[in-house]
Amino acid sequence: MSQSYDRGLIEDFGRWREFSAGMWAWIFHKFTGWVLVGYLFTHVAVLSTALTSASADPATVAANQDLYTQTIRTLESLLVVRVLEVGLLAVAVFHILNGTRLLLVDLGIGLESQDRSFYASLILTGAIVVASVPTFLAGVSL
Ligand code: HEM
Repeated sequence: MSQSYDRGLIEDFGRWREFSAGMWAWIFHKFTGWVLVGYLFTHVAVLSTALTSASADPATVAANQDLYTQTIRTLESLLVVRVLEVGLLAVAVFHILNGTRLLLVDLGIGLESQDRSFYASLILTGAIVVASVPTFLAGVSL
């Protein structure tokens, strides 16, 4: 005999309060995966606009006068770009750690400690990102 269940509306965004660790892991993994895809397209689009024939001229490159070098230097001199780089690291590290965790779970490893391994991924991501901040912000003028 079949039974019906009231699962509520998926459109009801107020349900985030009921989310368990597994739901947050699912949302963060999707979010970080698609942010990485978006970043890759933006990265290629921005940097390819800086590729000109002068970028291939050895003398111009040696003098650091080519558009590509100038573009990279300008981008790296901006605080907002450095902050975005820290964000990118956070997104990439979480996706890699959580993705590795998911692959292990798919292999049947750590099935009973999924919540704890998700929290461990979050804490490790936070620690790596905080430790990277001095490197990312080095030499930037405010
Ligand atoms: C060592 C690196 C990586 C690992 C271990 C990893 C792992 C995974 C795993 C296991 C899934 C499937 C999750 C599931 O079961 O639903 C996944 C999904 C995904 N990954 Fe990665 N990944 C890595 C790098 C990347 C990179 C570099 C990108 C983007 C350029 C990326 C983009 C995505 C996207 C878009 C999804 C699908 C998200 C969705 O469900 O909509 N991943 N990743």
